[in-house]
Amino acid sequence: TTSGLTFDIRLSAQRKTPQERAELLDSPGFGTVFTDHMVTIRYAEGKGWYDPRLEPYGPITLDPATAALHYAQEIFEGLKAYRHPDGSVAVFRPDANAARFNRSARRMAMPELPEDLFLGAITTLLEHDSAWVPTQDNSSLYLRPFMFATDVGLGVNNPSRSYLFVLIASPSGAYFSGGVRPVTVWLGEDYTRAAPGGTGEAKFAGNYAASFLAQAQAVEQGCDQVVWLDAVEHRWVEEMGGMNLFFVFGSGDSARLLTPALTGTLLPGITRDSLLGLAPELGYPVEEGRLSIDQWRSAAESGELTEVFACGTAAVITPVGHVKSSHGEYPIGDGSPGPVTMRLREELVALQYGTRTDHHGWVRRM
Ligand code: COI
Repeated sequence: TTSGLTFDIRLSAQRKTPQERAELLDSPGFGTVFTDHMVTIRYAEGKGWYDPRLEPYGPITLDPATAALHYAQEIFEGLKAYRHPDGSVAVFRPDANAARFNRSARRMAMPELPEDLFLGAITTLLEHDSAWVPTQDNSSLYLRPFMFATDVGLGVNNPSRSYLFVLIASPSGAYFSGGVRPVTVWLGEDYTRAAPGGTGEAKFAGNYAASFLAQAQAVEQGCDQVVWLDAVEHRWVEEMGGMNLFFVFGSGDSARLLTPALTGTLLPGITRDSLLGLAPELGYPVEEGRLSIDQWRSAAESGELTEVFACGTAAVITPVGHVKSSHGEYPIGDGSPGPVTMRLREELVALQYGTRTDHHGWVRRM
């Protein structure tokens, strides 16, 4: 569906100077620096989506009884704009994010946003803030669209009847400090991320709120990230922190990949989906299936399992070097990034940054 709406442009009177921007772009980290503008679009039941605009980046004033602050009706997306060698800017698979945003909206009883507004928000923001797309290697402009319930009142019988969609953008460098450094994971058995029938496959804010305690436990155990197990048997591997997992069996010409199938409790990652397409093209068969924590350990110990990596928009591909649980610990291979992991990473990054021809139609010049 399309909305037929056009964006009202209200430029910031306090845009950063080129000098200030250059300083902020020097080592942006992740998610702490923001561009000059944001996009907002409002929704009201009976009226639909209205008032799409570009406006100066800044605080949003909310009534303390705003529904999202009490009952967590909030969903978001994450995607990136990349600087290509010819200086142009491209966004990777924004249509896939638009579709997932609407699947999340349906699960949280929120209105769907027409694709032209989702993509139009990105185009409008990039038209005015494209100078914020970094030029350094491995840097990009992280785009964060989100939507939350704005009804005022504490009644909890109905979903909100009004919503605010916002798009902000944040220049980003490496997500995990240390760049492509293998992480150590903790197999968390005390907490679960998502149960059948729950909200696990939605990109829903509450999923992340519920993850922090388990993540803190992983850190207490000297690990970088928690790995989530299924909620029923506590033995099937689901995902890592906010990223999907891939397992590499065998090596060289006989390497093959396995990733947990989308059972309804996993976040359907767009990087995951892209790798499902890319891996076979590079000669690696890939299967969506399941793997238990016992199979993980025995395959790592026998040497059949050669590499493990996590993937997501923010950190792209992150090797897993060591696994730890209350039953002990073991390395994956020799603990260093494996060749299949690095080959896939290189291919994906080359597509995103426009140094490899895109045969998939994934790269959108905006
Ligand atoms: C990702 O892009 O991999 C994530 O989901 C992390 C994000 C929530 C910061």
